[in-house]
Amino acid sequence: MSQNVMITGAGKAVGLGFNMVLRYLEAGDNVVATVRKPCAELEELKTKYGNKLTILIMDIGSTESVQAAAEELSKKLSNLDLLINNAVSVSPDCDKGFFDANLDYIAQTVDITAVGAMRVIKAFYPLLKKSEMTALIMNISSEAGSISKCYRTNLIDYGMAKAALNMATMNLVNTFKGDKSINIFCVHPGWIRTDGKPDNPAPLSSYEAAEILRLLFEKKRNDFDGHRFITNLDEDYPF
Ligand SMILES: NC(=O)c1ccc[n+]([C@@H]2O[C@H](COP(=O)([O-])OP(=O)(O)OC[C@H]3O[C@@H](n4cnc5c(N)ncnc54)[C@H](OP(=O)(O)O)[C@@H]3O)[C@@H](O)[C@H]2O)c1
Repeated sequence: MSQNVMITGAGKAVGLGFNMVLRYLEAGDNVVATVRKPCAELEELKTKYGNKLTILIMDIGSTESVQAAAEELSKKLSNLDLLINNAVSVSPDCDKGFFDANLDYIAQTVDITAVGAMRVIKAFYPLLKKSEMTALIMNISSEAGSISKCYRTNLIDYGMAKAALNMATMNLVNTFKGDKSINIFCVHPGWIRTDGKPDNPAPLSSYEAAEILRLLFEKKRNDFDGHRFITNLDEDYPF
């Protein structure tokens, strides 16, 4: 049975979001791809897949933008079965350490990456609640968001943002507790060549990573008891 899937941050053709859009379309699902600005490669997919693909403009840093996108989508779709919060933002100082990084960049990274995902979940919750299956929310996190496994001195804003996203996930696990109509996880998606560069040493292309995640997500839909922070290989990862 085909499902309705929404993926945020899908406007970069070499990125994970775009490639998840492609994988779900290839699997026959109806896909909502959210972007901040029009994307030529998504328009090409639209030409090929027609009504199976909806492109929605949404800035997850703006509650107004997210609410407007949810209202627009509710006029087109009766429900959402899967929401993948993939969009992320990092500061120009991401690679710098504590003494060199401009700390004033951190709040925006956290706002987009963690609060942004929460804005999306809140605004699209009514559509998720109308799913005829257990609606699933997958927050794309990172091993860099694990506090207990932290070994870096850089990626301060990114690590803080993903740790905050993990905390948001656990808060929502508690909020939805006892409600078997909705389920939520945070996922480390693997090490991926999301920059599309062939000399990137990461083992997975975005297209390969997207299919691993697609299959994993279906496996987790009705798992209400397992650990909430998992890897693309379905291993529990420590918070
Ligand atoms: N690559 C890896 O090995 C790896 C490892 C662990 C986790 N991850 C996670 O995997 C996911 C995908 O990675 P990626 O490199 O493909 O991501 P990315 O390209 O850096 O970001 C994905 C999208 O987020 C969008 N975005 C940024 N700010 C936004 C905003 N305010 N509102 C809406 N969208 C916004 C960007 O849109 P624009 O195109 O408009 O800028 C971009 O297309 C991310 O969550 C990343 O943290 C990746």
